[in-house]
Amino acid sequence: MKLLFKNIKELVQVRDQPIDFVAGEKMQELPTIKNAFLLVENGSIKDFGRMQDVPDEKMDRVVDATGKMILPAWCDSHTHLVYAGHREGEFVDKIKGLSYEEIAKRGGGILNSAQKLAQTTEDDLFQQSAQRIEEIISLGTGAVEIKSGYGLSLESELKMLRVIQRLKQKYDIPIKATFLGAHAIPADYQGNKKGYLTMLVEEVMPIIAQEKLAEYVDIFCESGYFSAEDTAYILDAGQKHGLIPKIHVNQFTSIGGVQVGVRYKALSVDHLEVMTDADIQALKGTTTMPVALPGCSYFLSIPYTPVRKMMAAGLPIALATDFNPGSSPSGNMNFVVATACIKMKMTPEEAINAATINGAYAMGLEKEVGSITRGKRANILLTKPIHSYASIPYLFGSNLIEQVYLNGLENV
Ligand code: NIG
Ligand code: FE
Repeated sequence: MKLLFKNIKELVQVRDQPIDFVAGEKMQELPTIKNAFLLVENGSIKDFGRMQDVPDEKMDRVVDATGKMILPAWCDSHTHLVYAGHREGEFVDKIKGLSYEEIAKRGGGILNSAQKLAQTTEDDLFQQSAQRIEEIISLGTGAVEIKSGYGLSLESELKMLRVIQRLKQKYDIPIKATFLGAHAIPADYQGNKKGYLTMLVEEVMPIIAQEKLAEYVDIFCESGYFSAEDTAYILDAGQKHGLIPKIHVNQFTSIGGVQVGVRYKALSVDHLEVMTDADIQALKGTTTMPVALPGCSYFLSIPYTPVRKMMAAGLPIALATDFNPGSSPSGNMNFVVATACIKMKMTPEEAINAATINGAYAMGLEKEVGSITRGKRANILLTKPIHSYASIPYLFGSNLIEQVYLNGLENV
């Protein structure tokens, strides 16, 4: 099956030579080809170049992309999109002045979602989550990571991870699973944090490893939740069970979690709204990707990750949605890219790099997706006619995606 896109106004994020990620000043470079063609064969990117060099061979299908652009589909490396119900009541409480911490102290927050999830069957949870996957694909996402962490018990954590496994089987996009049992201390372990963590390590992790239910391990390293020491305990145990760290750190306070993440070779450290100079130093020269979640900062009205300062220090940045019912109830990567430009002062080039190749790296998928590179999966998005790729963040409220292709097939 040969599919040719011709007359593409601009083919964006073209990497002849495969790269793992871009960092620092290099994030300003976004290679493109104007007036381009893209050839997809059997679901993969076969070739691309200028229209004057378009291959003269028989195609099964030709799409005329005059006036339109093609980008690699978004790579969303941090979501909690498997959840039950919603938290609209808390949303209204927040409008009336309660903070995220105050809501959590009243039994809202993560524990509220855990209670709802415990009362939801696996099939129902699967249906609710499938709807969200379908929504994000239609919004241009072509690879996603999903966390557990609203289970907070052996049974419910496994229920979440099994739902993620079923989503992997049903949908044609790469999905990575992360075990986030250490998201909060459940009601039945209040005052016994150590007991809860031990249960996660001794009872849940062996099953996850045996049934291959997750690739990554996560923990909410934050004042009032889990300490840097707890983080080291979980990451150490995760390592022994073959789980690579991707962790929640520095959302509200800096308590040493970044350093622990680096020590355990975390694939990513995520949130980073509060960054000290020492935190930035700790990430320099490492293989750990810093991930910013501007949808969360927007929704909670908390500081944005200081990405300009971090990129000036030579660090890479990835962008993700944090899609979850409490702090970022949106899986729209277009909005994330726009918010990164408008509020965090990333340029469109930096934001698109952060939402594609760097996001792919933060899920271990940089060889498969995240750029227009020969041999990669043809998970791409075709825009409506637009002036330039800067339209994507500029026209922040418009849907500029005409079609999403997964493995070279139209998403219907
Ligand atoms: O990434 N910060 C911790 N976890 C989620 C929010 C969870 C929730 O409020 O349900 C986050 O923001
Ligand atoms: Fe999160």
